[in-house]
Amino acid sequence: MKAFIKTYGCQMNKYDSEIIAGILKENGFKLTEKTNDADIILVNTCSVREHAEKRMLGYLTVISNLKKENPDLIIGVVGCAALRLNKKILKKIPGVNFVLGPDKYKLLPGLLTDLSCFDETCYTVNNKEKYEDIIPVRNNGISEWVAIMRGCNNFCSYCVVPYVRGRERSRSVKSIITEIKELVAQGIKEVTLLGQNVNSYNDGSFDFPDLLRRVSEIDGLKRIRFATSHPKDLSTKLLEVIKERKNICNHIHLPVQSGSGKILKKMNRKYTPEEYISLVEKAKSMIEGISITTDIITGFPGETEEDHQATMELIRKLEFDSSFVFRYSPREGTKAFHYKDDVPENVKIRRLEEINSLQQSISEKINKKLIGKTCEVLIEGTSRRSKKEMKGKLDSGKGVVIKENDKKVKAGDIIKVRIFDANSKTLFGKINGRKNVDI
Ligand code: SAH
Ligand code: SF4
Ligand code: F3S
Repeated sequence: MKAFIKTYGCQMNKYDSEIIAGILKENGFKLTEKTNDADIILVNTCSVREHAEKRMLGYLTVISNLKKENPDLIIGVVGCAALRLNKKILKKIPGVNFVLGPDKYKLLPGLLTDLSCFDETCYTVNNKEKYEDIIPVRNNGISEWVAIMRGCNNFCSYCVVPYVRGRERSRSVKSIITEIKELVAQGIKEVTLLGQNVNSYNDGSFDFPDLLRRVSEIDGLKRIRFATSHPKDLSTKLLEVIKERKNICNHIHLPVQSGSGKILKKMNRKYTPEEYISLVEKAKSMIEGISITTDIITGFPGETEEDHQATMELIRKLEFDSSFVFRYSPREGTKAFHYKDDVPENVKIRRLEEINSLQQSISEKINKKLIGKTCEVLIEGTSRRSKKEMKGKLDSGKGVVIKENDKKVKAGDIIKVRIFDANSKTLFGKINGRKNVDI
C-alpha cells in the first residue's frame, strides 16, 4: 500500500512526518508524492492557532472527495490537531477513517491493516514516547532536523502545545549522536536540533550545552543550529559553547512574545522585559555578530496601546535580525482562554503591521551593513529563480543569492562570498575569487 503524507505546522511536525514515513517504510508500506496514486492519505496537523486548524479542515474536505473515485482510500488525521479535536474531526468530515495523536505513530501499521483497532487510546497523550528506535525517512538535502526532545512543561498561558504534546522528555545523547553521525555519513552538512525549549534539554547526565559540544565534535559536520530557546533557561554555559565552537551557528531564536512586563506575567513567560534585554545584551557582548530572532504575539487579552508601545520600544532597542509576529488566537483548554479576548481583530492586525514595518526597516538596516563584507556561505544549490544563480545561508541564518553559478561549487560547500547588495529579506553576493573555504 502506498501512503501520501501532507504536513502542516512547525519543524517538529515536519520531523514527525519523517518519523511516520520511517515507521511505514519499516513495515512494508511505500510512499508516494501524489494523492491520486495513494491508498492512504495521512494529514499531519497543527493546533497552534485557529487558522491552522481551519486550513487543515478545508484540505480534508477536498481530500475526502477522492473517496468518490477510490472508495477504499484510507484517510488518517495525525498530529496536534488530531489529538485536540479528535472525534470532532470524524463527525465533521465523515471521509476521515481515524485520528492519531503525536505520541501514537507506532500504532499506524496495525491501524492501517485493521481499521477496527481504532479507539480512544489513539488520541491520548502518552508522555513517554521518544521514537529513538525509528529511522526517519528524509529527502536527502544538505541540511536536516533532528528532534532532541519532545513535549513542553512551560504552560505559557496562550499555548496549546503542552496539552497536545505532553510532558517534556529528552532523548539520550547517545541516540542523538548516532543519528547525526549517520546523517553526516550520508553527506549532510548541517543539522538543526529541535525541541519546544531546547535549553531545558537534560538526558539525566548531560544538559544542552554538553550535548551541543558533543554534536559539534562530530567530524564533517559543518554547521549546527538549534530551536527554540526559552529566555528563562538560556545559560552562560550555552553562550560559552556557541562562542568556542566554530561550527555552532551564531544565531539564537529567542521568542520574547511581548515587551510589556504586565503581559509577560499574564502569559506565564517567567521573565521580565528587563531580564530579556540584559540576556540579549550579554549574548551580543559575548559573541560578536550574533543574530537574534524572535516571535511576538499581538493583541493578547488586556494588551493596551501602552503595552504595544513597550513591545515596539523593545524592538527598537534590541534590533532583532528578524521576527515572526502572530495575532493572538484563543485556544480552548489553555489558561488564557478564560481571559476575555478583548483586543478587536482590526487592532490586532494594526499592531501586527506596525511591528512588521518597524522590523522590516531594522532588518534592512542590519543587512545593508553587510554590503562590502566577505562572508562564509553554506551553498544550498541552484537558486529557484534562475539557473545562473546559487543560493545559500550565512552562519546567522540569513539567505544569500549568489549572482553566478560556478560548476566547481556544489551544494554543501562553504565558500567566501562578497556581499554587494541587500534588502530586508535577502543578501546578494558574488564568489570572492580564490579565497574559497573548502573548494
Ligand atoms: N516552543 C516554541 C514554539 C511555540 S509555537 C516557543 O516557545 O517559542 C511558535 C510561536 O507561535 C510562539 O512562539 C508564539 O509566538 C506563537 N503562538 C503560540 N500560541 C499562540 C496563540 N494562541 N496565538 C498566537 N500565537 C501563538
Ligand atoms: Fe508553547 Fe511556551 Fe511551550 Fe513554547 S515554551 S511550546 S510557547 S508552552
Ligand atoms: Fe508544532 Fe503546531 Fe503542534 S506549532 S507542536 S504542529 S501545535
